Amino acid sequence: MTTFHALYGHQPDGEWAAPGRVNLIGEHTDYNLGFVLPIALAQTVRVQARRRTDGRLRVYSAQGDGSVTELTAEELAAGDVTGWARYPAAVVRALAAAGHRVGGADLLFDSDVPTGAGLSSSAALECAVAIAYNDLHDLGLGEQELALLCQLAENRYVGVPCGMMDQMASMCCRAGAALYLDTQDLAVRQVPFDLAGAGLRLLVIDTRVKHDLGDGAYAQLRAGCERAAGLLGLPALREVPLTGLDEALTRLPAELRPLVRHVVTENDRVQQAVTLLDAGDPAALGPILTAGHASLRDDFRVSCAETDLAVAAAVAAGALGARMTGGGFGGSVIALVAADTADAVAGSVTEAFRAAGHAEPVIHHAEPADGARKLS
Ligand code: GLA
Repeated sequence: MTTFHALYGHQPDGEWAAPGRVNLIGEHTDYNLGFVLPIALAQTVRVQARRRTDGRLRVYSAQGDGSVTELTAEELAAGDVTGWARYPAAVVRALAAAGHRVGGADLLFDSDVPTGAGLSSSAALECAVAIAYNDLHDLGLGEQELALLCQLAENRYVGVPCGMMDQMASMCCRAGAALYLDTQDLAVRQVPFDLAGAGLRLLVIDTRVKHDLGDGAYAQLRAGCERAAGLLGLPALREVPLTGLDEALTRLPAELRPLVRHVVTENDRVQQAVTLLDAGDPAALGPILTAGHASLRDDFRVSCAETDLAVAAAVAAGALGARMTGGGFGGSVIALVAADTADAVAGSVTEAFRAAGHAEPVIHHAEPADGARKLS
């Protein structure tokens, strides 16, 4: 790999890292102002960065095509950027639009967060840029402010109407804990999640079906949820209590009912999961995960043949529970397993994919890791 000095002719001021994430439970709840429970992954986007005073942004990725993209302050403000460079450009633009005095920077990225696998590689990229800029230009912003600016950057300048979960997870998660986030008031709590101590493993099964939230399906689901809340006279579906679900459904057109049923029951699953983790019983999460998958498959309809197969094969092979994680339409599945069955479950999933004629899944395991940080 090329070095920062070879690319830019000087040494970086520092290096920062931001992780990908898996969400344990609480899917498609964030833009409904509900609850989520993600953990950060050990896989990160790392950025070496040096401050510039001329407002220019230069970016290079070790996973890219070998070229440096250079943008003047005017080009950044106009947002005329294509390819992966639009993510860092969007963050810089969002920082500037929020009134922060950002200058330029030279950036060299390297990442081991798989792209298109539903593990939030784009949020990790955004958060790495945000935390580096925060330090390089002395912006003095806190991690939540940075996360929300990254979400805004993605919504406004990349054009994906995502919620805040991925950016909040990448910024705010801590090793050994799941991040219990109330997306309405942004209250966060680190809930201890000691997999090894409980004799458990969390498999991450990348189905290798590339998911893409920019293709319109995510936006349509979000719009459906917002329409349902409007018809119920509520600011967001978060306001529908589980006890009021049946009555709420009677007031909605048939096509919106499954969406609402998913969101309301999913918020309840997050609460149940947090209660179990607080009680020190992570193994009991299993059935909640599997119920969450059924809801995403049957009501929210964002699973696909490969994610359904990975869940079914993992559970049949003895996983305590499994579900797709992230926005859906492909991507990854998580499976909670007893540590001594991890290899057997992984082998069964791989064999089921082979028998069905699917590409071989990539299977690793996750431990709750730290959020964005300065490395050097
Ligand atoms: C994507 C979005 C998140 C969230 C999930 C679904 O990852 O970026 O904001 O909505 O989908 O839970």
